[in-house]
Amino acid sequence: MSGHLLRVENIRSGYVGSKVLNELSLTLDAGEILTVIGRNGVGKTTLMRTLIGVLPTDGGDIFLDGHSIAQLSADARARQGLGYVPQGRDVFPGLTVQENLQVGMQKLGRAGTAEMEMALKFFPMLVNKLKQKAGTMSGGEQQQLAIARALVGNPRVLLLDEPSEGVQPSIVQTIAEKLLEIAHTLNIGILLVEQNMYMVERTASRCCVMEKGRIVEVLTPQQLKDDGLLRRHLAI
Ligand SMILES: Nc1ncnc2c1ncn2[C@@H]1O[C@H](COP(=O)(O)OP(=O)(O)OP(=O)(O)O)[C@@H](O)[C@H]1O
Ligand SMILES: [Mg+2]
Repeated sequence: MSGHLLRVENIRSGYVGSKVLNELSLTLDAGEILTVIGRNGVGKTTLMRTLIGVLPTDGGDIFLDGHSIAQLSADARARQGLGYVPQGRDVFPGLTVQENLQVGMQKLGRAGTAEMEMALKFFPMLVNKLKQKAGTMSGGEQQQLAIARALVGNPRVLLLDEPSEGVQPSIVQTIAEKLLEIAHTLNIGILLVEQNMYMVERTASRCCVMEKGRIVEVLTPQQLKDDGLLRRHLAI
């Protein structure tokens, strides 16, 4: 079956002596924000690392636009259009904002001026900080830089691992609005791992509940309005 931008089929993966993902499946369409929720340690970050190719799959398959990418290197997957914002954001603190963005453009293999302009259009507050060292910015600003850095790579699928973590509530709201704007205007698919209820309720087209390394339920936006249900799944 084709049609889905990203299709993950029964993948298994994990670490030496510790199986984490257990036959996990999901689909993501262009223009949609699919959230993944689940308690600490269920394997959300492992899922992200497996999708981008820094952890090998131990079974199952991953399709981007109908083509299997499960055997491709992380670099090749990035060139095919997977963008990644890791948990803890991971910007280079000693590099300036501009240099961080240039790192994000490396995979393009060209100057990427248009991509830089596009990313800065979503995050205009970065424009005045291009020469500032990333490590001197607030957590929320660094998170926005991390998203902009992924955007300059021109992704078709953007993977974000808990972008609200360590970010003050007003900036969490800003980031939610930016993600909605990015998904809609660029028509890219966003896979968003989150434990922040506001973020999930505000952004999710659908919400996958992860338990023990697999998706056990997919919630609709209607169901997400039931705070009790969401709380139970997030174990708050
Ligand atoms: N590098 C590693 N080596 C061995 N085991 C690991 C490694 N990284 C994670 N694990 C284990 O794999 C399981 C899943 O971890 P993972 O980081 O994917 O969970 P998570 O859902 O992202 O948790 P959190 O909500 O705390 O971010 C955990 O039991 C964890 O201890
Ligand atoms: Mg994690």
